[in-house]
Amino acid sequence: MIPLKTPSEIAIMRENGRILALTLRTICEEVTLGKSTVSLDHLAEELIRKAGAEPAFKGYQGYPATICASINDEVVHGIPSERLLKAGDILSIDIGLFREGLYADMATTVLVGEIDDDEVHHLLRVTEESLWRGIKRVTIGNRLSDISHAIGSYVKSKGLHVVREYVGHGIGRGLHEDPQIPNYGLPGQGPRLQPGMVFAIEPMVKTDPEPTRVLDNNWTVVTATGGLAAHFEHTVALTERGVDVLTLGGE
Ligand code: MF3
Ligand code: CO
Repeated sequence: MIPLKTPSEIAIMRENGRILALTLRTICEEVTLGKSTVSLDHLAEELIRKAGAEPAFKGYQGYPATICASINDEVVHGIPSERLLKAGDILSIDIGLFREGLYADMATTVLVGEIDDDEVHHLLRVTEESLWRGIKRVTIGNRLSDISHAIGSYVKSKGLHVVREYVGHGIGRGLHEDPQIPNYGLPGQGPRLQPGMVFAIEPMVKTDPEPTRVLDNNWTVVTATGGLAAHFEHTVALTERGVDVLTLGGE
């Protein structure tokens, strides 16, 4: 069952999304070589709490931090650490918050320093564009898998590979609600999209085709052969007026 949100719930989620986007923008501006991801994590927690919200991930199934900070071949769920960022790293930051009973969730991938590597720029561009291709499919009457297909077919056409082991999701009073939103699949399947649905759409894309694996810390997801990975995510609501990207305000 996909829980529908009322306009007033969506209004709260929009404010949550705005706070989250501003927070993530600030964190991204702090990304420089020589900095640790744990310092970014502490700043994120401070900013979220100052805004009257709570970190969504901290304590979620025992997750120990406010952000996920995934570097290079780390795909998602990288745990912030004292490891220092170096020029040429790519850093995916995933962040969520909870306020007034409702969640917001988003992610982006940034470069550390200047990177003169076409493969890296291609990976980031394609992953972000695939998110927007998915978001464009969020219209009344479309089917859920139209989102999945738009993302997966675009990524494939660009010679890259979506992660199949992790998916986007409904979001609202829970961080993860129905439905699951894979980043691949045939179009025209699954429920029809209706006003009041809110989704976290989150393509994870990598340069190698093999399935990911999880490190011994039981969290960090890495590519099988050391290929790079990127991750972009927005929380979006479908309203009578069409799709509304709630996690904007960060640009
Ligand atoms: N954006 C991720 C998700 O939607 C982050 C959650 S991971 C955890 O699933 F850290 F919270 F566990
Ligand atoms: Co998510």
